[in-house]
Amino acid sequence: MLLQTERLVLREFVPEDWRAVYAYHNDPRYLEFYDWEHRSEQDVKAFVQRFIDQQQESPRIKFQLAIVLPNSNKLIGNVGIRKPNVKAYSAELGYELDPREWNNGYATEAATAMLKFAFEQLRLHRVVARVIANNSNSVRLLEKLGMRQEGHLREDEFFKGRYWDTLVYGMLEDEWRWKVASE
Ligand SMILES: CC(C)(COP(=O)(O)OP(=O)(O)OC[C@H]1O[C@@H](n2cnc3c(N)ncnc32)[C@H](O)[C@@H]1OP(=O)(O)O)[C@@H](O)C(=O)NCCC(=O)NCCS
Repeated sequence: MLLQTERLVLREFVPEDWRAVYAYHNDPRYLEFYDWEHRSEQDVKAFVQRFIDQQQESPRIKFQLAIVLPNSNKLIGNVGIRKPNVKAYSAELGYELDPREWNNGYATEAATAMLKFAFEQLRLHRVVARVIANNSNSVRLLEKLGMRQEGHLREDEFFKGRYWDTLVYGMLEDEWRWKVASE
């Protein structure tokens, strides 16, 4: 599977990608809202392998793609849509970028392409995303995408010595069509 946007290529992961992922997985800006304290080479290899394994599922239900800058061929993150099972009409959106590539609008561009794939190719009825409430970059991204806050789960995660609130965002197929029509 391959998706292209104005500035990005979204392509399938390959095993050698672990190096590019490892290059940012220990950046404190990246780690801030995950329960991970540190990422080893083994952790990152397993992380990439999970996305490769998803490619072999039949029928496939999880689509986590590498975000690549076409000119340099540099992997700068990943974005994906994950159905919980084959019959599901709802799926979860997830994404991450190398912090050295933040603030270029790349996450917005990649996530928009993934929403388009979710609603127009997979024909899903609903897409959801969960985000730690303090993760303001991610919250802002979800709002720019046009997703609506549907829930606020108080202190439902515990890591790094404290409780964290989670926000649940959602978008329905109608809302996607309305967004596309209004652009
Ligand atoms: C969440 C995350 C992907 C957001 O990355 P990001 O670079 O801030 O995302 P965006 O694509 O929205 O870009 C943000 C900024 O780029 C700027 N920008 C620069 N050039 C741009 C362009 N050509 N087009 C659009 N925006 C552009 C915008 O001003 C925008 O800032 P704004 O939201 O204040 O308007 C990133 O913070 C991340 O990887 N975090 C760690 C992992 C993580 O938390 N993942 C999510 C778990 S829920």
